Amino acid sequence: MKVQLSDGEVALRPLAVSDASAWAEVRRRNTEWLTPWDATNPPESHDVAPTFRGMVRRLKADAKAGRSIALALTVHGRFAGQVTLGGITLGSLRSAYVGYWIDRAYAGRGYTPRAVALVSDYGFFSLRLHRIEINIRPENAASLRVVEKLGFRYEGLRRRYLHIDNDWRDHHSFALCVDEVGAGLVDRLRQQSSRLG
Ligand SMILES: CC(C)(COP(=O)(O)OP(=O)(O)OC[C@H]1O[C@@H](n2cnc3c(N)ncnc32)[C@H](O)[C@@H]1OP(=O)(O)O)[C@@H](O)C(=O)NCCC(=O)NCCS
Repeated sequence: MKVQLSDGEVALRPLAVSDASAWAEVRRRNTEWLTPWDATNPPESHDVAPTFRGMVRRLKADAKAGRSIALALTVHGRFAGQVTLGGITLGSLRSAYVGYWIDRAYAGRGYTPRAVALVSDYGFFSLRLHRIEINIRPENAASLRVVEKLGFRYEGLRRRYLHIDNDWRDHHSFALCVDEVGAGLVDRLRQQSSRLG
C-alpha cells in the first residue's frame, strides 16, 4: 500500500527514484546542517554507501516487508526533507521509531512537527502500533523542541546508542504509547495552535 499523508501544505509520500536530483541538491546544500545528526556506518559493519537508486530500491524492499517506511517530506509539492518510520516490529512489541531531517531553508516553520504528527498517527491508527519512539542527541536543541511540541514523554538516556557523525553517541529517548495520544498528534498540534491564537 502506498502511503500518502497530508496536512495542508505539508505532505508525505514514498521516496522515489525520480527524487534523485532534488534529494542530491538538498543534501549537498545542507551538508554542514545535517552531518552532526546523520547516521553513519560503524567500522564493524562493512556496508558501502549505496547510490540513490540503490537506496530507494532497498527502502522499497523494506516497505514491502513492513520493516520501515521512508517518506519524502514535501511542502507545497517541493521536496524538503525526509521522515522515516523505522524498526517496525509487530508481535508483542508493536513498536517503531521516527527519524527526520528538513532542508535548512524550510526550518523553523513547524513543518517537521506536523510531518512527525502525520506519520505517528499513521503508525498508531493505520498500522495499529502500540508505541512510537524518537531518539535525540542531547546536543540537538532543535530536535528536542520537536518532541516537546508533540508531547513525547521522556524515557531516559541511552548511552552510546546510535552511530552518528562517525561515533557512538548518547541519545535521549522519548516515546508515546497509543493510549497517550487521544485523537492523535495532528489533532494535538491543531488544538495547540488554536489555543495560541
Ligand atoms: C530538527 C529539525 C528536523 C527541526 O525541524 P523544523 O521543521 O525546523 O522544526 P520547527 O520549525 O518545529 O523548529 C524546531 C526548533 O528548531 C530551532 N530552529 C528554528 N529555525 C532554525 C534555524 N534556521 N537554525 C537552527 N535552528 C532553528 C528552534 O529552536 C525551533 O524551536 P522553536 O519553534 O521553539 O523556536 C531540523 O532542525 C533539522 O533537520 N535538523 C538537522 C537534522 C536533525 O537534527 N534531525 C533530527 C535528528 S534526531
